[in-house]
Amino acid sequence: MKVNDTIRTELINKALEARKAAYTPYSGYAVGAALLTKAGKVYLGCNIENASFGATNCAERTAFFKAVSEGEREFTAIAIAGGKAGEETQEYAYPCGICRQVMQEFCEKEFKIFVVKTNGEFEEHTLMELLPHGFGGDNLT
Ligand code: THU
Repeated sequence: MKVNDTIRTELINKALEARKAAYTPYSGYAVGAALLTKAGKVYLGCNIENASFGATNCAERTAFFKAVSEGEREFTAIAIAGGKAGEETQEYAYPCGICRQVMQEFCEKEFKIFVVKTNGEFEEHTLMELLPHGFGGDNLT
């Protein structure tokens, strides 16, 4: 599925919507993600924190794990929105290193990553830009 303006706007709005479900009693930092499959389906994710902090799951990985657990393996793009819970986003929330590594497992170099703000502003990156020289399955063959 090619990401035209309409689909990009839909992804941005869905990431902002997904952010509302974030469970963040410890950090107060809410993240939402909307992940687009190559077939055009969108999976949402939010961050889910835990009193045992290491058990926290990021929004991006929530979206990926929901999708992969339902049989999806091919992805085109993700939109990510993050900021102080209950407020409009003030800055771009780039995916953490672990989430970039999960993207590396399932996505091609050209996989698009949109970091977005509540006001509709966004930046567009590729996985290659955010995770150059990534370690992947090819290294193990
Ligand atoms: N978080 C995400 O959901 N995605 C990221 O890529 C970075 C961090 C979440 C995890 C935690 O709940 C909160 O943001 C603060 O680290």
